[in-house]
Parts: sequence; C-alpha cells; structure tokens
Amino acid sequence: MKVDVLLGLQWGDEGKGKIVDVLAPRYDVVARFQGGPNAGHTLEFDGIKHVLHQIPSGIFRAKTKNIIGNGVVLDPIVFRAEIEKLTKYNLDIKSNLFISKKATLIVPTHRLLDQAYETAKGENKIGSTLKGIGPSYQDKIGRQGLRVGDILSTRFSEKFKKLTDIHFEILKNHDIIFDWNELEKTFFEAVTFLKGFSLVDSEYFINNELKNGASILAEGAQGSLLDIDFGSYPFVTSSNTVAAGACTGLGVAPSHIGEVYGIFKAYSTRVGSGPFPTELTDDDGERLRKAGNEFGSTTGRPRRCGWIDLPSLKYSIMINGVTQLLMMKADVLSIFSQIKVCTHYQLSDGTLTEEIPYEVVNEKIIPMYTTLKGWNIEVTNLSEEQMPKELLEYVSFLEKELQVPITLISTGPDRSHTIHRSEKIS
Ligand code: GDP
Ligand code: IMO
Ligand code: MG
Repeated sequence: MKVDVLLGLQWGDEGKGKIVDVLAPRYDVVARFQGGPNAGHTLEFDGIKHVLHQIPSGIFRAKTKNIIGNGVVLDPIVFRAEIEKLTKYNLDIKSNLFISKKATLIVPTHRLLDQAYETAKGENKIGSTLKGIGPSYQDKIGRQGLRVGDILSTRFSEKFKKLTDIHFEILKNHDIIFDWNELEKTFFEAVTFLKGFSLVDSEYFINNELKNGASILAEGAQGSLLDIDFGSYPFVTSSNTVAAGACTGLGVAPSHIGEVYGIFKAYSTRVGSGPFPTELTDDDGERLRKAGNEFGSTTGRPRRCGWIDLPSLKYSIMINGVTQLLMMKADVLSIFSQIKVCTHYQLSDGTLTEEIPYEVVNEKIIPMYTTLKGWNIEVTNLSEEQMPKELLEYVSFLEKELQVPITLISTGPDRSHTIHRSEKIS
C-alpha cells in the first residue's frame, strides 16, 4: 500500500483537521510528520468542536492508529493537557496512539527562547505562535536536542540540565521573566505522563504496517507557503511542510508516496507577519473574517484575509506534486456577489508574472485579478446537484487554471458538510 499525504497549500488553517477526520475511516493509520503545538486542527461533529495541536486528527475514529512521527516537535506539557481534555470522550487513546522515539522534545526553555527571539526582532517579528517551534528545531539541527526516546534514559535529568543550561546562557541577555521551579516541575510531571504511552521506533512501525498492507494518511501541519525552504523566508515556520517532509518526517521512501491531497480555502488567509499579495485590508477583508470566523485555532489571533491567489497555489502544487485538490469554505464566499481571483502578479518594474519572485518579502507585488460572478446563496446543506451554477463555474475555472481536479468541496465546518466529487477536470 501507499502513503497518501494531505497538506495545506496556503499559509495554514486550510481545514486539514476536518478533512483528515473525514478521510480517516478509509485509512488504517494517520500520521503527523512535522510541526508541533503551533498547529491547531479543528474537527466538528455531533455539535462539538475539537481542536487538536499535537495529536493526529484520526484519533476520533476507533479503528484508526495514530502516529506522531519523528519529524514532529513534541511538548509533553501541551500533550498532557490535550490528552486530558479528550478523556471525557472515552477514546482508547493508549491503544491507538504511537509516538516516535525520534520526535524532538520541546522543553520549557524553548518557549522562553521563542519569546526572547521574537521580542528582540521588534517590528520584524515573525508572528510566531510562541510554542517553542523554532528553538526546538534549531537544537535538533544543531545536534544538541533531546528526543522522546531520551525520557527512558536514566540520565534524562542530566541531559535536560545540560541543554537548559545552554538556553539559560542565551536567556541571560534577554529580559524574560519566568518561574523556573514551576516550569521544571510541570515538565517532569508531563514527562512521566508521556512515559505511559507507546513510544516506538516509528520508521519500523510504519514500514511494517505498509508491508502488511495497511493504508496510511500523512497529515501535514501549517501550509506550503510557510515551509522553511519554499515559504516566504524568514516569515515561515521551521519545518518542511511540503510533501517531501512526509518522507523525512516518517521514514517512508519517496516511492511509497501515493496521492497528494492539496487542501486550500476558496479564498486566502494568513496569521502572523509576512507577504500576502491578495490581502484585503478594507471592508471586504473584515466581512471575510467575520463570515469565515477567521481567528487562529491556536492563538485566537485574527487571521488576515484576502482573495484566492493562483500564482502561489500553482507554486504549491508544483512543489508538492498535488494529485487532487480539496476546496474548503465555499460557503463563506456566499457573502459576495462578485469574487476576485488573482491570476498574475505585477512586479515593481511593470512585468507580469505567474511566479513568486525571490524577493517576495521586499518586492511590491500588485495582484492582477479576474472577476467571477458570486453565488450569493447559502450552500452549507446543499448536495452537489443542488450547487449553484456560479459555484460550479468557480470550481471549473480553478481546475482549468490549476490543472488538477478538485475532488472535494467543503461547505461548512461539520464532517457532514462535505461533497465528494469524481476525479476529472470538468
Ligand atoms: P487546519 O489547521 O488546517 O486544520 O484548519 P483550522 O482548524 O485551523 O481552521 C479551519 C477553520 O475552518 C476551523 O474553524 C474549521 O472548523 C473551519 N472549517 C473547515 N471547513 C470549513 C468550511 O467548509 N466552511 C466553514 N465555514 N468553516 C470550515
Ligand atoms: P496549522 O497546522 C497557520 C505561522 C505563525 C507564524 C509562523 C511561524 O493549524 O495550519 P511558529 O509558531 O511556527 O514559529 O510560527 O507560522 N503558523 C501557522 N499559521 N496555521 C498553522 O498551523 C501555523 N503554524 C504556524 O502564525 O506566522
Ligand atoms: Mg489551524
């Protein structure tokens, strides 16, 4: 069997959690391959909304095994809080969740460093979620990080002290206030809690599952435009959010990758700093934020909103090798009688391009738009046959431009607000 990958094509929050939950019954295993508690994946069913940060979005499906892969950065404190929040749902998490021993640990000083680095950047801050993502990946790449498997070592406290002492040296130069005794105590309690779960050699685990014929869905976090290599650097996260990240973040060979589901909103949003060519800073932007309830699932910050951006979607499709597109939040665009689609960028020297320029952060990009007719009616509870013609025209326009079929349309936050379409470009 193959590993299918589902990932965001924009700046995160495309609706990955909802769709992984919808698709999970088709898979034996759901696996997170990168990111950490900066993610906030929302699932809605039976009138209840759940937000997951570190736990894969297959956790509510009783027959699905869930893996936190080696490419993830895991904060035991956040993990514990998340598990405790789920206890009232009587899920068999201890049997269904497996954590890679090679996943990197986020220690409390990583969060403090995140805060220190952001404050020091002043106006140029990234807009990080301050969950310790950058500093923990820095330690991983710098070959001094701690991994989940280290908590089983009798020398763990010693290793922890060695790493946090390095962090304290840096923190001395920053004005960050904290109660270390309390942070350390909470961390070690959470580490004890974490020891109660299945800590595994996840690369063997996953490859054995594959050998035994299991189907696997790799769940991306963040979005391709936040990728450390391909995003709008430095306004990015610290991991490879693109499809290739599933190989390194799980230990699966490229030849095992099957479908690549690229998920995008029918418009665009971004939370945090960095370029956003189609951003609407006017009334329409406000209307989108309100209609789409565009506030961060992890931090509650208002998301910046704008029109759909085809040059950046084409870029993400290219980097990821997307085989199917999934369009979210079609219902939100119902508020507009006219919908704009950015087809090109005009650069400061007047050239028109469909490519993202290297100087994306400094270049003054003017988005060039085509206007399509809106549908202006509620679509949340409609079937595909009942979809307004203007919505289907919007979908066909995007398919023709992007040259990838849109096989799913989401019309609301609930599991049931999902239309599965056949696989051909209309
Ligand atoms: P993720 O990080 O990609 O999992 O996305 P988030 O959960 O951060 O943000 C997506 C938000 O949109 C959540 O509040 C979802 O409940 C909501 N959502 C998902 N699909 C739809 C949809 O089709 N319509 C509407 N109105 N909301 C949706
Ligand atoms: P999900 O998985 C949207 C953004 C932050 C910031 C930048 C760096 O829910 O789609 P970091 O905390 O990684 O140092 O932040 O990336 N960011 C996200 N934006 N959705 C996310 O995850 C995000 N994770 C990080 O806002 O701009
Ligand atoms: Mg999110």
